Amino acid sequence: MLTKVKTAMLSGVAGYPVTVETDLHRGMPGFHIVGLADTTIKEASQRIKPAIMNCGYIFPSEKVTVNLVPAFKPKEGSHFDLPIAIGIMMLGEYVIEMENTGFLGEVSLDGRINEIRGALPLAIALRKSGIRNIVLPVGNAQEVSILEDINIIPVSHLKEAADHVLGKWRPDIYKRKEIKKMSRKAIPDFAQVVGQESVKRAIVIGAAGNHGMLMMGSPGCGKTMMARRIPGILPELSYEEKVEITGVYSVAGLLSRENPVIMERPFRNPHHTITQTGLIGGGTRPRPGEISLAHRGVLFLDELGEFDSRVIDAMRQPIEDGFVRINRNLEELVFPSKVMVVIAANPCKCGNLWDEKKICTCSRKQIESHMRKLMGPFADRIDMHIKVNPVSKEKLTEIRDSQKWEDSCSMSAKVQAARILQEKRYMGSGMRCNSELDEKRIKQHCQLGDEAQAMMLAAYERMGLSMRGYNKILKLARTIADLASCDNIGAEHVAEALMYRIDLGY
Ligand SMILES: Nc1ncnc2c1ncn2[C@@H]1O[C@H](COP(=O)(O)OP(=O)(O)O)[C@@H](O)[C@H]1O
Ligand SMILES: [Mg+2]
Repeated sequence: MLTKVKTAMLSGVAGYPVTVETDLHRGMPGFHIVGLADTTIKEASQRIKPAIMNCGYIFPSEKVTVNLVPAFKPKEGSHFDLPIAIGIMMLGEYVIEMENTGFLGEVSLDGRINEIRGALPLAIALRKSGIRNIVLPVGNAQEVSILEDINIIPVSHLKEAADHVLGKWRPDIYKRKEIKKMSRKAIPDFAQVVGQESVKRAIVIGAAGNHGMLMMGSPGCGKTMMARRIPGILPELSYEEKVEITGVYSVAGLLSRENPVIMERPFRNPHHTITQTGLIGGGTRPRPGEISLAHRGVLFLDELGEFDSRVIDAMRQPIEDGFVRINRNLEELVFPSKVMVVIAANPCKCGNLWDEKKICTCSRKQIESHMRKLMGPFADRIDMHIKVNPVSKEKLTEIRDSQKWEDSCSMSAKVQAARILQEKRYMGSGMRCNSELDEKRIKQHCQLGDEAQAMMLAAYERMGLSMRGYNKILKLARTIADLASCDNIGAEHVAEALMYRIDLGY
């Protein structure tokens, strides 16, 4: 006697279809789960037996063997409970419809079905394998309902799921609820930032091409204030982006009934005491770190100088590649990390190094070690380096003249226009922004005229740029040209791009 039930497994944020085969033979009573199942699944045997009995179904008195196919991939997660339980309950039954249905859910001892992590990527994997109906916990229904072409069958009890398979219970068709959007007004506006026109210009460039930015300046000059306003000028999320980000949050177990789908670009602001695992991801049961929770949004590292140097170094690869790789004993997990990195830092430990009116109390050695930490190989991977100066006295008085400073709406319009040009240019390539260009595409899309080329070569010599730094300037110049709606990158665009690689004076 054999049953086959469809479900899925997680690897990083990707799901893969799995078939649960259940076989019954004569012999000593027992319950075995094979097929590279980890302890969370092995524990299922303890939960499933009482749960089945509490539903009024009989647990077989023979030897039950459950095999998870494909067997070569390691599997974990409590969502295997439901498909395993269904596989056992259907042994010897006349099943109405199972071929086209997938099952996900954790089972309690009393048969209740509990919410699971990763429901969305699991459902996507099932859908890709051709499955159209998914039986899942009520608490996960809204999250999965973002997928439009599947039937959702929410269940709160194992008995409902079993009765459904046997055709004894017909659930109502699941009605998708409209998911409310958080108002953009919740994000503070750039209009409140006095002066700082050049920094705002840099922020528009960064947001337009999704370039990372390092802002350096004395304490109190507005770095944190401006960074917090960046999500308000980024373009709205596309449907694909919402699905992608919600998948990451689903795997991290961070979705709630109030917030079942991520509708806004994330803004993550981890504290400087964060560990490497917290930031990059990983752990014994690997979870996405802050860098992946910021995927397609902003990762803001405030006071970079306070972060542990090893943590800063560990960010190099994920920021460069747009994904995090985590090696576990048998497999490699991948979490996405396409973020706009925004970094704020003081020029020295006390913060007064660049302030003419204050005295810096740091020793030369302290200043050097601080700069080394900030401007090392990590900073080389950040496209834009910006010096933030305090607001001048004249600017402060201008507020009284009720001068209106550029607001988020105006900045956002510029970003949006440049993003549309990039989307058209990179259509079908899987890329969205200039910051993602690889070497081959830089050659293709960042061609320079004679004057601009000469300027670049001179800068290469003068600034002692790395090849990476050189390419970053080209990508930045591409964004600046896009903001000016220019097909060709001109000398003026290169000249501006070079300003964001300033020598910070040490
Ligand atoms: N350009 C500015 N316009 C208006 N307020 C500012 C400006 N710069 C700083 N502030 C005020 O000073 C406070 C401290 O700024 P903050 O962004 O925390 O500085 P930093 O992060 O550079 O140390 C802000 O909360 C804000 O009230
Ligand atoms: Mg600050």
